[in-house]
Amino acid sequence: MRFDTILPMAAANNSKWVTLEDRFGIDPADGIAMAVADSDYPTAPCVVEAVRKSVDMGVFGYGYDKAGYLDSLCWWMSHRHGWTVDPDWVVSTQGLGHAIATTIDLWSEPGEGVAYFTPVYHEFRFKTERAGRTPVELPMVLTEGRYELDFEAAAQALTPDTRILLFCSPQNPSGRIWSREELRRVAAFAEEHNLILVSDEVHCDLQYDGTPHIPMDIAAPEFRHRTITLFAASKTFNLAGMRVGQMIIPDADLRARVVQRLTALNYDPTVMGITATAAAYTPQGNEWLAAQMAHLTRMRDIFDTAVNAIPGVKSMRLQSTFLPWVDFSGTGMESAEILRRVHGDAKLGTAPGDWFGTGGESFHRFNIAMPTAHVEAMGTRLAAAFSDLQ
Ligand SMILES: Cc1ncc(COP(=O)(O)O)c(C=O)c1O
Repeated sequence: MRFDTILPMAAANNSKWVTLEDRFGIDPADGIAMAVADSDYPTAPCVVEAVRKSVDMGVFGYGYDKAGYLDSLCWWMSHRHGWTVDPDWVVSTQGLGHAIATTIDLWSEPGEGVAYFTPVYHEFRFKTERAGRTPVELPMVLTEGRYELDFEAAAQALTPDTRILLFCSPQNPSGRIWSREELRRVAAFAEEHNLILVSDEVHCDLQYDGTPHIPMDIAAPEFRHRTITLFAASKTFNLAGMRVGQMIIPDADLRARVVQRLTALNYDPTVMGITATAAAYTPQGNEWLAAQMAHLTRMRDIFDTAVNAIPGVKSMRLQSTFLPWVDFSGTGMESAEILRRVHGDAKLGTAPGDWFGTGGESFHRFNIAMPTAHVEAMGTRLAAAFSDLQ
């Protein structure tokens, strides 16, 4: 099975495997690396074929016409998400970390606030801090095993100089897919507090159980004048190393500001990244994605069944993403003891929950975009590491 072959990930220079020992003291020979959100199986054959064709030609000179790539992207958006995107709205970036950093740089000054609902993708905080801005955490509320946005508390937490709201949709971690009503409230909150709204939708293609993802621009089109949507093929098609992402910006003034800065900094996407992305956003790519989701759905069941059988440990049911968010609070253990057991005893290189900000302390984030044997090993190793609780 194409998703079940165990690949020599270190030989592919895969960062989560290469850094496993230095980061967590886990020997990659008997550990499982999962602290980065990419997959341990190859991308779609149609993408490999397109890249191979370019490699076989051996011409890696300057690229030019991006129309094929933009047409593919717009087809994908309309086909999968019912969103009609004008190719003129799309600004390509060197991945989405680049897009987030560019937005922080353009719409805030050093010392000013950048807000986000926590727990959330840790790079929201890291990028805010690296830019010398002030992180403003807006903790979500955990109600019956599901995160809810608390707008009253969020309004209290904002500082007068908060300029940007980074919003993760679907949420990483937890995989929560937001409803139209929730998205509208987020956009209205940004409007009320005069914040630039970044809707990071990179995980939106990875939907389980048919739960629909709604693009922010469809949910709240009247707030386009402050909204930037982030998108990329990187998570869906395991292309993060190709370093291509898209900022989709319907508002001409916002877009002009981004284009001016990226042009001034002489940024241009790589020819190979564009080739791979254009090949991914096709009917063949879509078929491969269906096969990947069937695999991930099986992995989610295997993982949840094994993990939820451990007393005091609870995996949050994923609606999206391949990143299970597991709560160990029911074990009554300190986070250092949980870390010792997960990393030290089970040799599972998870992302510790405190990376993700307030509310994440008792959690670990796993990654099931892996061969079945690895996902099964996660369950058996965790059960062994917490066997005294059985
Ligand atoms: C929500 C979210 N945004 C952005 C990124 C980073 O994207 P890129 O690799 O394109 O910089 C990630 C990667 O894990 C992510 O989960």
